[in-house]
Amino acid sequence: MAEKKVLVSGVKPTGRPHIGNYFGAMKQFVELGNLYESHVFIADLHAITSLQNGKELSQNSFEVLLDYLAIGLDPKKIAIYKQSDVPQVTELTWIFNCLITMPYLARAHAFKAALGDLTDATPSQRLLVKKLEQLPEINVGVFEYPLLMAADILIQGADVVPVGADQKQHVEIARDVALKFNNTFGETFKLPEALIVDNVATVPGTDSRKMSKSYGNTIELFATDEEIERAVMGIVTDSAGETPENVFKIHQLLRSKEELDKLYDANKGKYKVLKEALAEDLKKFIKPMREKRMALSKDRKQALSILESGGRQARLRAEKKMEEVRKKVGLTLS
Ligand code: ADP
Ligand code: TRP
Repeated sequence: MAEKKVLVSGVKPTGRPHIGNYFGAMKQFVELGNLYESHVFIADLHAITSLQNGKELSQNSFEVLLDYLAIGLDPKKIAIYKQSDVPQVTELTWIFNCLITMPYLARAHAFKAALGDLTDATPSQRLLVKKLEQLPEINVGVFEYPLLMAADILIQGADVVPVGADQKQHVEIARDVALKFNNTFGETFKLPEALIVDNVATVPGTDSRKMSKSYGNTIELFATDEEIERAVMGIVTDSAGETPENVFKIHQLLRSKEELDKLYDANKGKYKVLKEALAEDLKKFIKPMREKRMALSKDRKQALSILESGGRQARLRAEKKMEEVRKKVGLTLS
């Protein structure tokens, strides 16, 4: 039998996951778990670029572990681990730092977003911003973010990386890094590909923007019935049309197009009825996962032992790859 291809992905422990995270990325971790040799982790080192509170970070990381288990990731088939339990990843990141140039990283979305919108800047301000010493006080981690992510991906030999559309550029950067490394030091890394599911690439939030923890426009994945109702009834709709676009787009995640066409045709312009229908469907969908999560949260020791064993597996693979990397780069004396 042919060897299984490798899947790698992670989620940052920066807050409660929402249905955009689930449909855009996490659901794929579960569904592809049988087809790929899977490595799914908690991206705690990436989280430090924005969350600098030790207590909160470790608490959140445990929460993401419960989230993973509650959505149905099976630790017998999938290595579930914490990024910081694989120190080889940061070692590899440094090697990448020395390979990739600053202007290349300056083009990455996350850094550009932190830099802010320069549309109102004068030409001379723009020129200044181009000079590194004039940049706002953005931490180096934000700048380097894509290389740490490239190390996560390449160290495990990923073929596919299931993510939402906003992470596409980061996976492309990982590919570029692999190519550059291979060209410089010889064939070492596989070229990974982003796996983005078309109709859920960007799940809209309760306003017109992408659903995101940082916009406060989310419907949480493990929300209670009341929270679901509040979020759904609060969806800001475009009152001009007969179909509330956001409501419909979110509803599409839960029901077939035929069912929805019927429902939305029969209730043209009745936004309240349609929102109530969406809230009901979300409640039915979320309830079993929420209950499973509640049960899992009662055995902290058991959950932590899953993380420990996943970390061991991920470290073994990472160390094997790093032995090859160190040799090629010249860090091994023999
Ligand atoms: P957030 O933007 O809410 O902070 P993260 O950066 O933690 O989310 O993203 C975790 C995963 O969920 C990533 O693969 C990301 O691409 C995906 N994702 C986040 N928001 C959405 C969305 N609105 N639609 C689809 N996928 C999303
Ligand atoms: N940057 C990703 C996000 O914001 C999280 C992440 C870190 C990741 N390392 C990764 C995703 C490696 C996929 C593969 O969601």
